[in-house]
Amino acid sequence: MAIKFLCIVGARPNFMKMAPLLRQLATDSRFLPVVVHTGQHYDDRMSGQFFRDLGMPEPAYSLGVGSGSHAQQTAAIMVALEPIVLAEKPAAVIVVGDVNSTVAAAIVAAKLGVLVIHVEAGLRSFDRSMPEEINRILTDAITNIYLVSEESGRENLLAEGVRPERIKFVGNLMIDSLHHHLARARESGIVQRLGLSPKAYGLVTLHRPANVDHSGALRGILTALSAIASELPLYFPAHPRTHAVLEQNGLCVDGGINVLEPLGYVEFLGLMDSAAVVLTDSGGIQEETTALGVPCLTLRENTERPVTVEQGSNMLAGVTGESILAAWAALKSKPESAGRKPALWDGRTAERCLDVFRDYFLKM
Ligand code: UD1
Repeated sequence: MAIKFLCIVGARPNFMKMAPLLRQLATDSRFLPVVVHTGQHYDDRMSGQFFRDLGMPEPAYSLGVGSGSHAQQTAAIMVALEPIVLAEKPAAVIVVGDVNSTVAAAIVAAKLGVLVIHVEAGLRSFDRSMPEEINRILTDAITNIYLVSEESGRENLLAEGVRPERIKFVGNLMIDSLHHHLARARESGIVQRLGLSPKAYGLVTLHRPANVDHSGALRGILTALSAIASELPLYFPAHPRTHAVLEQNGLCVDGGINVLEPLGYVEFLGLMDSAAVVLTDSGGIQEETTALGVPCLTLRENTERPVTVEQGSNMLAGVTGESILAAWAALKSKPESAGRKPALWDGRTAERCLDVFRDYFLKM
């Protein structure tokens, strides 16, 4: 009988990590992936569009939990997932990243005695005011197989007492998706459709609660972005959460900052690839810009992905108007460099994950 994995996805950044793994698992009939979508993200432009862009199979189960407080969302996922794990009796539950769906599914599996495999394990910002940091710490406390995307992940897990044989440095699955879809992204025509020239615009994303939920913080960031926009037009596909805060607070966005609806995976990748600079508070985009060699200013005080700063094209810009403008000035005076590609960010991470699964499940 095939070895069954329940593969959990819920929020936008999960899809591009799970898609290459599902494609790879489909090449070996000894494994049977069963996709569960928690419904943490549900709008077509946050979810359905990504399934289509990434060529993902329809989920076998859609839990439809939707939005809510952290406790409501996490609890709703746990309650809905438990009977599925009991009925499916998988050999393992695979969770990715650090969203509420990740920790909720890991808790359900661990308490039912089902093995937990965590993709992107060990990343730490050491900032517990970030909900994702709590999700990362809790998930890794009950994970059995740790699939690590960068060396810092291994170091953090070892420092927390995880046994080395449980940690597998496989590389970055998100970069597998990037390699797989980059040609299509370049042909998508999004840059031309927006009337842009390559490397003549900046791309902005913002969605972290600390940056957008308080209008004061958002105002400071927007002031810095306005100043940058007077030198370089900025394009800002805004997360629904950010759209809502802008509207509720009647925040005016400078004419040089072009607010767009959220984009799908392929179009966003196309826009990122041709951007002169990306300004973001996203974790995944720090990695994608590093893989593309596009300069990235991260609008945060810290990062759980230090390799993107040490080797890649990422720079921490902080979250105040002054710090962002200082980072912008520093970037302009820096000699151009695409940075280095971190180890194993080569588009072949899914193959290495499958090797780990074969070693673990087929040689027992
Ligand atoms: C979640 C993740 C975050 C990740 C981000 C990517 C957690 C704790 N946070 O944050 O780590 O970087 O996804 O986007 O898991 N909304 C919609 N449509 C949707 C989904 C959300 O309109 O399809 C709106 C709702 O108003 C919702 C809000 O966005 O309340 C926030 O959604 P939520 O899933 O709670 O967190 P994100 O900010 O998306």
